[in-house]
Amino acid sequence: MTNKYMYFIANWKMYGGLNSLNSLHKVIKFFKTFKKNKQIKIIYCPPSILIRPMSKKLNKSNIEVGAQNCHENLSYGAFTGSINSIMLKSVGAKYVIIGHSENRQAGENDKLINLKIKSAIKSGLKVIFCIGETLKEKRKKITKQVLNKQIQLGLNNIRDKKKIIIAYEPVWSIGTGLIPGLNDLLDTVNFIKKKTSNFKVLYGGSVNPKNVHELKTISNIDGFLIGGASQDSKKFIDIIKKTYN
Ligand code: PGA
Repeated sequence: MTNKYMYFIANWKMYGGLNSLNSLHKVIKFFKTFKKNKQIKIIYCPPSILIRPMSKKLNKSNIEVGAQNCHENLSYGAFTGSINSIMLKSVGAKYVIIGHSENRQAGENDKLINLKIKSAIKSGLKVIFCIGETLKEKRKKITKQVLNKQIQLGLNNIRDKKKIIIAYEPVWSIGTGLIPGLNDLLDTVNFIKKKTSNFKVLYGGSVNPKNVHELKTISNIDGFLIGGASQDSKKFIDIIKKTYN
């Protein structure tokens, strides 16, 4: 894995304020001098209020910024509290996470996720499309059925693999410290690639500097979506370094 092009995507969730941007200089400096920097894409997805100041801070660093969700409508409208993909792009986002399990659990279904993905692509954003099974589904041994449904409905009528990166995030591994067995993960990522005609597939769920040496051995993974550990610049840098040595 260590010789391939890898994505490292930071999902800050609902954490962080203007002060949190102060530690980004460590990541900027690291990335400038890291030998493998041509083989890596780093993308930060902060809360949307930080997209603009973060884009300014990361200007000329080759580190990109994305959002964590968007409204499905491209026209403006009376949707209190919502932000659409055009707005996100206008403040500096290049990517948007869609279908995160925390939003699925809050009521987003596959059909809505499909509309969101289409609207984001129309606005010129690239999409980090999250899929994953719950613990109950894993125990019932229906992981592949669940993933297949999420893929078929979420990507209905979307086939442009340059615009979409899949993030496989088992719901039971997010924020729990648990990661899938390595053979299972290899098999699941292969399954996702087969069902999507070879889209890029990232792994997400409790990635940290300690377990990345195991995760990096999964040869078909194209990178990581990192939640908790990405809020700490040192840990985030450590994950990248350890992926390569
Ligand atoms: P975690 O979150 O790394 O804190 O488990 C990953 C995610 O939810 O994207």
